[in-house]
Amino acid sequence: MKKYKIAVIEGDGIGHEVVPEGLRVIEACTRNFPMEFSWQNFSWSCESYLRTGRMMPEDGLATLRSFDAIFLGAVGHPAVPDHVSLWGLLIPIRRAFQQYANVRPVRLLKGVESPLRNFAPGEIDLCIVRENNEGEYSEIGGRLYAGTAEEMAVQETVFTRRGCDRIMRFAFELARTRKKHVTSATKSNGIVYTMPFWDERFATIQRDFPDVRADKYLIDILSAHFVRHPDWFDVVVGSNLFGDILSDLSAAVVGSIGIAPSANLNPEREYPSMFEPVHGSAPDIAGKGLANPIAQIWSGAMMLQHLGEAEAAQVIESAIGAVLAGAGPKTPDLGGNATTQEVGQAIAGEVCREKKAVS
Ligand code: NAI
Ligand code: MG
Repeated sequence: MKKYKIAVIEGDGIGHEVVPEGLRVIEACTRNFPMEFSWQNFSWSCESYLRTGRMMPEDGLATLRSFDAIFLGAVGHPAVPDHVSLWGLLIPIRRAFQQYANVRPVRLLKGVESPLRNFAPGEIDLCIVRENNEGEYSEIGGRLYAGTAEEMAVQETVFTRRGCDRIMRFAFELARTRKKHVTSATKSNGIVYTMPFWDERFATIQRDFPDVRADKYLIDILSAHFVRHPDWFDVVVGSNLFGDILSDLSAAVVGSIGIAPSANLNPEREYPSMFEPVHGSAPDIAGKGLANPIAQIWSGAMMLQHLGEAEAAQVIESAIGAVLAGAGPKTPDLGGNATTQEVGQAIAGEVCREKKAVS
C-alpha cells in the first residue's frame, strides 16, 4: 500500500468548490488501487490575507517542504491586488521548490464543442511547457517619482542559460514521449536582448535531440496559428509570460478554461511539485456551483502520474472522457446546466466503473 501525504490549498473563490471534487475523484480511485492519501488542508488565501496580512505564514514553505505534493485550487480576490496574492503564495512556492516546468496539456475531447469549425476530437492535442521560474515575472525593477507627472515604472526580464536550457531540454524530452515535435515561442524581432538569447539556447539544445522536429514562431503569428492551425503543434515551449497567455488561448480553442489542467513540476524531485488548474478563482461565478471541476480533477490525474500512479491517472482521464463524451452532466461553460458537484460525482462514479472494465 503506497501512502501519500498531500498539502491541499483550496485558496479563494471557486477553489473551494472544485478542490473537493478533485479529492472526491482521487478518493474514488483509492478503492481500486493500492494507495492511500493523507490530505492536510491549509486555509492560505486572500481570505486569510485580509485577516492576517499574509498569504501564508512565515514558515509556510518549510511546512510544505515535507509533503509529497501540493494540490491547489486558485488564489485571487477582488479586495486584494492580484500581484499581492500571486507573489505572496503561488510564485514563492513555484520558485522555492524549483517547479520550473509548468506543463499544460490541451486536448479537444469528444463531447466538447470547440469554437473552431472543422476540428474533430483528437485532432488538437498539444502541450504547453511554460518556463515557470524566471523570464518576465521578475522582482527586479521599481518606481520613481511616484505621484508626479514624471512617474515611471521599470521592470527587468531575466533569462539565464541554466533556466532556458533546463526548460527546453524538458520540452524536447517530453516531445520524445509524444509526437516528437517542439515549437519555441519567441519575439526576437522586438525584444532585442533576451529573446535572441532564448533563440540561441533553443538552437543549441535542439542539436541534442536530432530525432525531434524543432521550429519557432514569433509569438504574434503563433497566436494566430493557435486559432487557425492548432493541429500543427505538439509541445510548445515558451517563457513565463508567453506560456501563460498561450495556455488560456489554447484552453479556449478546445472549449473551455474550465477543463484546462496544469502541473508545476520540479523534474528532479528534490522538492514537492504542485498541481492546479490553469484558471483562476473566478469571482464572477464563485459560490454558485457553476464552476467546472474538470480542470481540477484532471490536475489530480497529473499529480497521480507524477507520484508514479500512472494507471490510476489514466483511469481518471478516461473517466473524464467518458462523462464528456456520453450523456453525462456538464457545467454551463460547456453548454450544460449541471452543478460542480454533479460533474464531480459523475466522474467519481465513472472512475469506479472504468477500473472494473480494465481489470
Ligand atoms: P479566471 O480564470 O478566474 O476566470 C476567467 C473567466 O473564466 C471567468 O469568466 C470565469 O468565470 C471563467 N472560469 C474560470 N474557471 C472556470 C471554471 N472552472 N468553470 C467555469 N468557468 C470558469 O481569470 P480572471 O477572471 O482573470 O482572474 C480572477 C482571479 O483569479 C484574479 O484575482 C486573478 O489574479 C486570479 N488568478 C489566479 C490564478 C491562480 O491561482 N493560478 C490564475 C489566474 C488568475
Ligand atoms: Mg494564467
